[in-house]
This record gives sequence, structure tokens and C-alpha cells, in this order.
Amino acid sequence: MKTLLIVYHSMTGGTRQMAEAAADGARGEPALTVRLCAARDAGPHDVLAADGYLFASPENLAAMSGLLKDFFDRSYYAALDRINGRPYAILISAGSDGRSAAAQIERIATGWRLKAIAEPLIVCTHAQSPAAILAAKTLDDDQRRRCAELGATLGAGLALGIF
Ligand SMILES: Cc1cc2nc3c(=O)[nH]c(=O)nc-3n(C[C@H](O)[C@H](O)[C@H](O)COP(=O)(O)O)c2cc1C
Repeated sequence: MKTLLIVYHSMTGGTRQMAEAAADGARGEPALTVRLCAARDAGPHDVLAADGYLFASPENLAAMSGLLKDFFDRSYYAALDRINGRPYAILISAGSDGRSAAAQIERIATGWRLKAIAEPLIVCTHAQSPAAILAAKTLDDDQRRRCAELGATLGAGLALGIF
């Protein structure tokens, strides 16, 4: 039985819905345990115990969210050289861009010697005014489907030993 760890942080719900959709997609794979963890509750033991990873964050101030960064800060050295070659992918919820947050996570994953199985999946919520940024987010069906497909792909590859 392989384990997929999904670590996310979300302020207004967009990233959480992305992570939940990816978890739903991955749960279609019977030979897989899917763990969906808020970043504040996840740490190095969860990283070491998993076989593959989905890291999910909003882009805030051209960066990953502070709480996802805190998870990496707490986990990085405890897991270094112990998870080499494991597969991962990235989910980003962004108001307009998302590439800076994705690039930061990619750099950390490169340090961990993880293997990207897909390009970062960035969902644009078009939140750019203060009111829109602070409003609760709702993903549309296509955005959920794309997240579910990425979760299903990572989950199936893990369970079948392809990655
Ligand atoms: C403090 C703050 C800074 C933000 N900075 C960016 C940014 O640099 N680039 C961007 O595309 N969106 C930015 N946004 C918009 C969020 O990424 C967007 O609202 C996203 O959908 C939030 O995801 P969440 O619902 O999971 O919190 C920012 C939002 C906040 C609250």
C-alpha cells in the first residue's frame, strides 16, 4: 500500500478545494492511502511516511503562503536525502499569476531530489481587488476536474509503481 501526502494551505478556500479535488481523484485508486493535511498539521514524519506528494498553496505577495513555507522549514532537513526520487506535483491558486509560488516550491522539491510528474497546476481565481481577494473562492467544475485528474494520475502512478 502506497501513501500520497497532500499538504495545503488556503486562506479563502481556493487551494483547499483544489487539494480536496485532487484527493478525491487519487482516492479512485484502491491500492493507495491518501492523506490530506493542512500545512500547520503536517511535518517531517508525514513526509518520511509518504511515497509521493502534492504541495498546494495560494500565491501570496509573489510567494507561496507563509504556512506552507513554515511546513517546509520544519520538514526540510529532517527529510533531506531520505526521500530522493519520490514523485510530486504542485497545485497553486492565484489571483493573476501563480508562477512565483510554483517556482519556490519547485526549488525546494529539487533540493529534496523529488521527481516532478507534471507541470504545476495553476488555477486563476481572478481575485485582484481587495474585495475579491478577501472573498471566499469557489472553483468551477473544470478547475475541479483538472485537479482531480492530477490527483488520479499521481495516485495511479504511485500505486502501480510507475513513478
Ligand atoms: C496577501 C495576499 C497577496 C496576494 N498576492 C498575490 C500574488 O502575488 N499573485 C497572485 O496571482 N495572487 C495573489 N493573491 C491572490 C490569491 O492568490 C488568490 O486570492 C487565491 O485564489 C487565494 O487562494 P486561497 O483561496 O486558497 O487562499 C494574493 C492574496 C493575498 C491575500
